[in-house]
Amino acid sequence: MISINPAVARLTDWRAEMQDRLGQLQASAPDLILTGGGEWSTDIAMPSHLVEAAERAVRGRPQYTTSAGIRELRAAISDKLKAENGITCDPDEEIVVTASATEAVNVTLRTLLSPGDEVIVGDPYYLALYRANFDLAGADPVFVPCAAEQNFHLPTSTLRDYVTERTKAIVITSPENPTGAVLSRSELEQVAEVALERGLWVIADDMYERFVYDGHQHVSFASLPGIAAQTVTINGFSKTYGLTGYRVGYVAGPADTVRQIAKVHATTTLCASEVSQRVALAALQGPQDWIDPIVERYSRARLEMARGFNALDGVSCPIPDGAIYVFPDFASYGMTSMQMAEHLIRSARVANRPGRYFGDRAEGRVRFNIPPDVEVASEVVRRVKAALEALEH
Ligand SMILES: Cc1ncc(COP(=O)(O)O)c(C=O)c1O
Repeated sequence: MISINPAVARLTDWRAEMQDRLGQLQASAPDLILTGGGEWSTDIAMPSHLVEAAERAVRGRPQYTTSAGIRELRAAISDKLKAENGITCDPDEEIVVTASATEAVNVTLRTLLSPGDEVIVGDPYYLALYRANFDLAGADPVFVPCAAEQNFHLPTSTLRDYVTERTKAIVITSPENPTGAVLSRSELEQVAEVALERGLWVIADDMYERFVYDGHQHVSFASLPGIAAQTVTINGFSKTYGLTGYRVGYVAGPADTVRQIAKVHATTTLCASEVSQRVALAALQGPQDWIDPIVERYSRARLEMARGFNALDGVSCPIPDGAIYVFPDFASYGMTSMQMAEHLIRSARVANRPGRYFGDRAEGRVRFNIPPDVEVASEVVRRVKAALEALEH
């Protein structure tokens, strides 16, 4: 066989593996609840202003847009970053709209990282996205263990220990997927101190910024004093507005770096879909008050689920500070996370993802999406309880 790029041949196709093994099981499970993927529940209706924006856009003739994204959308993102995140970004020079935050991560890492560079990342983390892109860039991840006992917070006070001559970047995802860990301002300041001292890039993934609970505050890394010139912020519309299927994200950072990222983006997708960009624009320009009640619903269901899991024999489940997942530990049942994931789909008919998709340290765990309803959350716990009782323990 004629060879292909070995870096690609070596990549693990996490999604195919998951879809083959779990997707088929899920498809054949009767009366399945939850979704396994990081999406809003389809029980939440799309607000009419977003549906109308999509309808208007498809009735026209959607075209290629400028590669960086339609100007109005970049201006709206710039306004949003200033008002909500304390980040000042020129819409013409410092923002590129991408076809999803997944693309934003891809083009950013391909721009910043070279073969042999090291990149520091907390573990557990969103492996399916980040690991593949580290591998494609030829960069070596350096994992910083984030302990469940510390609610999975990155141990920022010891971050220096992980920096070497080869370190190029640090990835900060707060709230984190799958753990929900929300880093405090002072923790982020410790990261900034290291990045400034050692001249490192910080890739700040703000995807879950709206999903923070119990009075925790999301702080955007790029808003910290003196660090903006070294920070590329990644964000999108999938989580804040439930627009997962529209595939819109963006990169915001210093002009000269964003210009380089824009070149990679232009050769990757040319531009994000115009229909999707128009919907994203409507989301930013339209009312925002419909989101808080949804976050509140997630918050209540999160407590129901995490407390419910903690009450189960041999299960422990940190209460997440943010994001839309709970990440309980089932290690005491002596199964791999894939075995437990399959058992819970077959026997509890609850969709989930095995911990191994989120790093080596997450092997005993399973990630569940939080549903936006307390009743569904308690039904998940009830079913999982019954499925665990059916096991030898
Ligand atoms: C931390 C994080 N970043 C980025 C993404 C990508 O989001 P999207 O490609 O839907 O914009 C996700 C999706 O789950 C995520 O969890």
